[in-house]
Amino acid sequence: MNAVAAPVLAETVPPVRILRETAGDARAIDALVLAAFGPGRFAKTAERLREAAALAAGFSAFEGERLIGSVRLWSITVGAARSVFLGPIAVEASSRRGGLGADLVRACIEEARRMGLGGVLLVGDPPYFSRFGFVSAPEAILPGPVDQRRVMWLPISDVFPVGPVRAAG
Ligand SMILES: CC(C)(COP(=O)(O)OP(=O)(O)OC[C@H]1O[C@@H](n2cnc3c(N)ncnc32)[C@H](O)[C@@H]1OP(=O)(O)O)[C@@H](O)C(=O)NCCC(=O)NCCS
Repeated sequence: MNAVAAPVLAETVPPVRILRETAGDARAIDALVLAAFGPGRFAKTAERLREAAALAAGFSAFEGERLIGSVRLWSITVGAARSVFLGPIAVEASSRRGGLGADLVRACIEEARRMGLGGVLLVGDPPYFSRFGFVSAPEAILPGPVDQRRVMWLPISDVFPVGPVRAAG
């Protein structure tokens, strides 16, 4: 008797959508960021800066109704340059390495361009962020201790990131 292969049911995975963050996303973002970074999470200096700054924009990635990625931009100045501070960025562990992190970073860069800013600042891993054009920013002075090798700048205009980094409203 010939065996009959069971029909394979295609599992439908909803497409991932990147949307502007809304107030209703906050709880899911907190949970995602906690899972990604753990309770000891961020360098204190970056967190203090975010606490003092206004949220300029945020992007949330959804698979169906499930929030699987997030990134935020905070209003700052670097010396005389109007800028945004990027972070935290997190993608749910099971959704990583598919390019979603890159899509979220690119959404931030496009947003900063739309806003007419000098550039985007962050504290992060150079091997990850250099692929988007972020370069070392040795003369951007954050308001607290930080590993200066991780301070990076994505230039949008020809302004150099020199001087104190301050939260802006
Ligand atoms: C960083 C993060 C957002 C990337 O999300 P993602 O959807 O996997 O990103 P992408 O698919 O665009 O890129 C994945 C690639 O980046 C690499 N990568 C991820 N984090 C990295 C890091 N900190 N340093 C260097 N490379 C890194 C991965 O190894 C992978 O490499 P591959 O393309 O050779 O396989 C995700 O790994 C995450 O949430 N990490 C925990 C939170 C965190 O550390 N955030 C800040 C990073 S400084």
